[in-house]
Amino acid sequence: MASAAKPMIAPHAIQQVKDAARVEEVVGEFVALKRKGPRFLGLCPFHNEKTPSFNVSPNLGIYKCFGCGEAGDSISFLQKHEHLSYVEAIKWLAKRYNIDLPEEEQTPEQQIEQSEREALAVIQQWALNWSVEQLWNTDEGKRIGLSYFHERGFSDATIKTFQLGYVPEYGSQFAQAAIANGFNPELLEKAGWIKRREDEARTPWDFFAGRVTFPILGLSGQPIAFGARTLKSDKKLPKYFNSPESVLYNKSRSLYGIFHAKKSIVEQDLCYLVEGYTDVISLHQAGITNVVASSGTSLTEEQVRLIKRYAPTVAILYDGDAAGMKASLRGIDLVLKEGLNVKVVTFPEGEDPDSFAKSHSSSEVTAHLTDTAQDFLVFKAALLMQDVGDDPVKKAAAIHEIVESVALVPDLVLRSLYVQQCSRLLGVNEQALISEMNKVLRRQYRKKLGGDQPIPEEHLAPDIAAPQPTLEDVGTAPQERDLLRMLLSYGHERINVPVQDEAGNTTEEETSVAELMFELLALDDILFDEPLFREMYLDYRHASNLGTQIETSRYVTHEQENWRTTAIDLLTEKHVLSPNWKERHKIHVKRESEALYDALEEAVDILKERRVDRMIKERQEELKATDELGMIALLQEIMHLSEAKKRLAKKTGRVIVG
Ligand code: GTP
Ligand code: MN
Repeated sequence: MASAAKPMIAPHAIQQVKDAARVEEVVGEFVALKRKGPRFLGLCPFHNEKTPSFNVSPNLGIYKCFGCGEAGDSISFLQKHEHLSYVEAIKWLAKRYNIDLPEEEQTPEQQIEQSEREALAVIQQWALNWSVEQLWNTDEGKRIGLSYFHERGFSDATIKTFQLGYVPEYGSQFAQAAIANGFNPELLEKAGWIKRREDEARTPWDFFAGRVTFPILGLSGQPIAFGARTLKSDKKLPKYFNSPESVLYNKSRSLYGIFHAKKSIVEQDLCYLVEGYTDVISLHQAGITNVVASSGTSLTEEQVRLIKRYAPTVAILYDGDAAGMKASLRGIDLVLKEGLNVKVVTFPEGEDPDSFAKSHSSSEVTAHLTDTAQDFLVFKAALLMQDVGDDPVKKAAAIHEIVESVALVPDLVLRSLYVQQCSRLLGVNEQALISEMNKVLRRQYRKKLGGDQPIPEEHLAPDIAAPQPTLEDVGTAPQERDLLRMLLSYGHERINVPVQDEAGNTTEEETSVAELMFELLALDDILFDEPLFREMYLDYRHASNLGTQIETSRYVTHEQENWRTTAIDLLTEKHVLSPNWKERHKIHVKRESEALYDALEEAVDILKERRVDRMIKERQEELKATDELGMIALLQEIMHLSEAKKRLAKKTGRVIVG
């Protein structure tokens, strides 16, 4: 059957799959890998490159691209590369490794829901075929429905691709045919195809009578709902009727056009978002196939996440109506919050994507989309500043509104780029924007926690004039500092690392402290939070990947003063750690050069422990505002993280050394 119940996989089976999955084998199915010491190396499948920087570490069970930064384990590789959900990735692995996945016992309610879903799926498929048949092979369908589509400029091929159809106007022909075919009237009503009168016989009538139909397809191409457009110009009638929501169709999780668009969304790294069915179809016909619609409703969080599974950027196509644009600005904050890049394309007054595609050539449409795409935040800033004039109060309000949006961008680096850009655009001092934004961040953070907790520094934008970090800083700054110290002090020292060979025997492999650190940190894509430490770490890693022999003089005599002072502090610091400091930060101070491997692993573990802690807290927050499906995924993640935390705590707890 096309639709599956919400899968519940027993945790022990998930563990079994994880234990069996070998990252080099899983990645190896999609990427040509060459063995290189304890690792495998290949060309990164997530960005274009000519020299391989995509590393797979069997020991750690992870992959990491030093070019683009993509990293993760077998499961996240499949999620990312094959666009699978977590559960789908587990199923893929179970199949690959011949592991039975016992689905957890369904409750009677779940069984009923599942069979209803399956029945609705059968009805929708049958109705799709029936409506397409009416369009092409009946007099009424050809005369009214097909000629309407032709008038709109849709080609036969387009009409067939999107499986457009028609429902005859009189005689409840659909209801009669469907019931004659044995379908249950109650289910036909749930599927949205018929309504029943309040008379004794509950006489059915066709809800979509006299309308052309636009099937809404699920991700694998199965029809889950329909939009049906009237062909009358009567303004009192709603132009579109849509199927009601059901166990098969969740409006806020569906996007019109996604089935036909997903491949090209991935290829282009970009998804166009339009308003309606006809916009999707017209653009598709003009050769722009990476396009979906939210079907008349405002965009939902689930839809944004769905897009995010395929591309990092969404470009929203607005028709040229300024009032409409302003009204929808707020809605886009949702997209920013999910970490998608947002672009905006506008159309001339009175035109929408559909009409524009019709009155222009394919190459003109393509050119318009690429040439006029603006960054959303820049677009918003410009739009709001239009009406400000010389009024300082209005200007302050506009700035505040923009800052609220910028504050939603989860990526720190991106956020600071936006601050710079907006500062130029608004003619406002960058530091003023940062303080304003930090106010917003503090408020958001407090709201999220529901209490008076102070926001950890790492969530705030660094003050430009702020002093350099001290030992008292919160967050993971102390751990980051310690790792950077090891990197600068011992980066090119050779050490032996225990590895397992194919037969499962433990042997030793030689590597450098720096390489080991890069590899250990690659797990969960850990980067330093503290901007200065991150810059120095990335500089070291970058230079080292280029094969540079890195001397401490690179930092001690660096042109930037804060790099010099930090490097000097770090390189001379190990003798001045106070006992108090050791206690508080569990810093390992036994003779490091003798036990570098332990020291490094420990420092990484402490950093990870802190991060995992933070991630657990974040997931727990998210739990408060998620749906059932999201909850299952979150709980699984929390479980996974808690296990990781336990493992780490055991390791780090063991090695507190005086
Ligand atoms: P024209 O541009 O007038 O030819 O009509 P259209 O079929 O292109 O639809 P329109 O541009 O008016 O609307 C764009 C989208 O808004 C449609 O594709 C629908 O998703 C949605 N929409 C429009 N009217 C209605 C309505 O009455 N009910 C619902 N539920 N959605 C509608
Ligand atoms: Mn339209």
